[in-house]
Amino acid sequence: MLRPVKSKWMSIIAAFAFTLGGCGGDEPPPAAPEPPMAPKVTTTMAPAAVEAVSPAAATGAAIDPVAQEQGRGIYVHYCADCHDAGEGHPGTMRLAARLDAGNAVLTTRADLAPEYVKLIVRNGLGMMPAFRPSEVTDAELDVLAGYVVNANDTASNTAK
Ligand code: HEC
Repeated sequence: MLRPVKSKWMSIIAAFAFTLGGCGGDEPPPAAPEPPMAPKVTTTMAPAAVEAVSPAAATGAAIDPVAQEQGRGIYVHYCADCHDAGEGHPGTMRLAARLDAGNAVLTTRADLAPEYVKLIVRNGLGMMPAFRPSEVTDAELDVLAGYVVNANDTASNTAK
């Protein structure tokens, strides 16, 4: 008595599965491509790049000049107006007031961790607006944070 019922269900399920299978052709549209600013730095580029900045290699910090340059571009675009050195930059002025003159200019700081920079950029702080992934992608934020925390090293390395 149970058998016919079971096989009836089996055939309904099979028919349903077949119907589903029939619609397989329509794939959802692919996700929007990453903007061209997203870093495409392959690890094979790193050794030569690191060698070019030997002081960085000497300190053990693998600072990739290609990524630094990309990060600098993002910084100039989104952050420099508020964080560059000098008067008229609200981020710099606010940090000088809250911290001290030596910690006012982001790119000369030696005490910032990338995680902290990313947290502030995503959430904002006081007058500073938050930046959403639609403005600064996660990949760009990685490169940007790397630039901000290492900019000081890069600057002093090239100055030396
Ligand atoms: C509209 C101006 C403005 C822009 C644009 C801006 N910031 Fe800020 N930022 C500020 C201000 C003002 C502060 C200080 C907030 C406070 O302490 O009250 C700040 C603080 C910070 C801090 C915290 C520093 C500390 O020691 O606590 C970080 C990190 C930071 N900004 C990174 C960035 C980065 C990276 C960008 C670019 C994506 C950026 N900011 C863009 C205004 C700005």
